Formats: sequence, C-alpha cells, structure tokens
Amino acid sequence: MAEVTVQAPAKINLHLGVGGVRPDGFHPLATAYQAISLSSRVTARDASTWSLTCTGRDGVDVAGVPLDDSNLALRAGRLLATHAGVDRAAALHLDKGIPVAGGLAGGSADAAATLVACNELWDLKLSRETLAELAAELGSDVPFGLYGGSASGHGRGEEVEPLTDAGRYQWVVLTFDFGVSTPAAYAEFDVLHAGSEVPEPEIPPALIKALADGSVDGLAAALGNDLQPATLRLRPDLAVPLTAGREASALAALVSGSGPTCLFLVRDAEHGAQVAAALADFGHARLASGPVPGAEVL
Ligand code: C5P
Repeated sequence: MAEVTVQAPAKINLHLGVGGVRPDGFHPLATAYQAISLSSRVTARDASTWSLTCTGRDGVDVAGVPLDDSNLALRAGRLLATHAGVDRAAALHLDKGIPVAGGLAGGSADAAATLVACNELWDLKLSRETLAELAAELGSDVPFGLYGGSASGHGRGEEVEPLTDAGRYQWVVLTFDFGVSTPAAYAEFDVLHAGSEVPEPEIPPALIKALADGSVDGLAAALGNDLQPATLRLRPDLAVPLTAGREASALAALVSGSGPTCLFLVRDAEHGAQVAAALADFGHARLASGPVPGAEVL
C-alpha cells in the first residue's frame, strides 16, 4: 500500500487514581480511561527517509508540536520499523484535532495511529497485542489509544483492559491556550504528598457499576482525579471555570489527566451547548461524546 490514514481518539480519565512515586520515577495508576470524539489523523506514505509535517483542525494550534526526532509519532514509526526489521521509512502527516499539551493524550493518539498506519503500510500483520507492547515503550497512554472505548489502566497506565460500558456520555471539553507539563504535575503531586504514605490507587467500584449500567448520574458521582489538586496548585486559575461549569448546571466538572483541559459531564447535546456557552470566556469549549473506538484505518 502506498498511503494509509488512521484516526485515533483523545482520551479522558474518568477516574485517575495515583499512588506514591515508584523507584523508576513513575507513579502507579488505577485509572478508568474513556476515548472521546475529538480525534487526530495520521497519514503515512511509504518513503525511503523519515519526515514529518503537521496541521491542526477544529481550532487546534500546532505551533508547539516538535517536528524533530523527539516527536512521538516519528519515534513510533521508527520503533515499529526496527521491531519488524523493515528497511523502509515513511513520510508522516499529522492532522491534529486533539488540543496539544492538554491532558488529552494527543501525542499518544498520534503514536498509536502511526503504529497502526505503518503496520498496514508495510503489510506487517502485527496483532493489536504486539502493537500495544511497542506502544507501552513509547508512553503510558499510547496503548489505550490503540484500544479506545472505556478501559481500565494499571501499572503506569499501560496495562489496559476493556471495561463494560453500556452508556453514551456527552462532554464539554474546555481547552486553553496554555499547557501543563505532565512531569510537572506529577512532581507537584509528590510535593503535596511528601512525608505521607500514599494509599494504593483503585478505580471506585461505583464507577465500574455506573459504566456497566450506562448511568450518567452514577458516573457523575464517581468521577475523580487524584492529580487535580497538583494541577490546581500549578494553575489555580482553573478553579474558576470548574466552578462556572458546575454553576451552569454541568453534572460534574474535573480536570482531564494532568490538565489543563477541564471536562464537564452533561446530559445531552442541548445541555452541552448551554454549558459550553457559559464557559466560552474561559477557553475553547467543544462538545464531545464517548466512548468511541481506538485507532482505526479510514
Ligand atoms: O509515559 P509518559 O511519557 O506519558 O509520561 C510522561 C511523564 O509523566 C513521565 O516522565 C513521568 O514524569 C510522568 N508520569 C508518572 N507516572 C505515570 C505516568 C507518567 O510519573 N504513571
């Protein structure tokens, strides 16, 4: 095949349980992921040398995206080529519909999409499980980008298991023109918990039940993010839109992952439009729904 395009979704953490820092510097997680309907597309074209271009759509600013070898999509393509012993490269184009450095795993989605695209491009026929092992080497959230849906994540987030989810949920996703560095948020978590024993993280059983029942009210009551106090210490101003969203009748409001993106659970598209209107002064409010599938060839 000469060219393949793959779409991969943004992730949110319905619950992000974080434990005390491990000797390797990572934090043990017990998280419930959900893939939502903001997505990026990666096009891979067979080539003899690696190259990368990037555009943004739906208002996504890609000015901060590195186009050098540090880009996770290029690293994904190279890792797959090395693993499979392929003596080819690819010209990659990222069309990003997931805001950058927002706590939505946009870079991880690009990497997951690149693994699927190059697997197809070079006709490698590697299984999702094999791709997930490579994905785990690239970053904690990359394996989930392959699976999508609603799923649990353990380890540092890379051990992904599907969760039964009977529901369809509507979200208002509020993004900003600034980012929060994930390592900085975790470092702040360590500062906040210095000298205290951090309990083993767990996904609340009430959240697992809410998803199995497809209950939006159950989900609203069970959402949570252990990193949120750390992110709010780095960006205290995020408390204002979180409160504004609740006051505008969102069922729940929380920071997505390490932030700064804020998530507001709503009942339906009409309710979402109303909440989004109340948040418009704070950032870019988008409507999204989940769960949606993981990386898939278009
Ligand atoms: O795995 P990933 O490259 O996405 O992680 C980025 C950074 O986030 C890590 O270097 C680490 O500082 C922090 N992190 C962590 N514990 C995790 C996941 C990420 O401390 N479970």
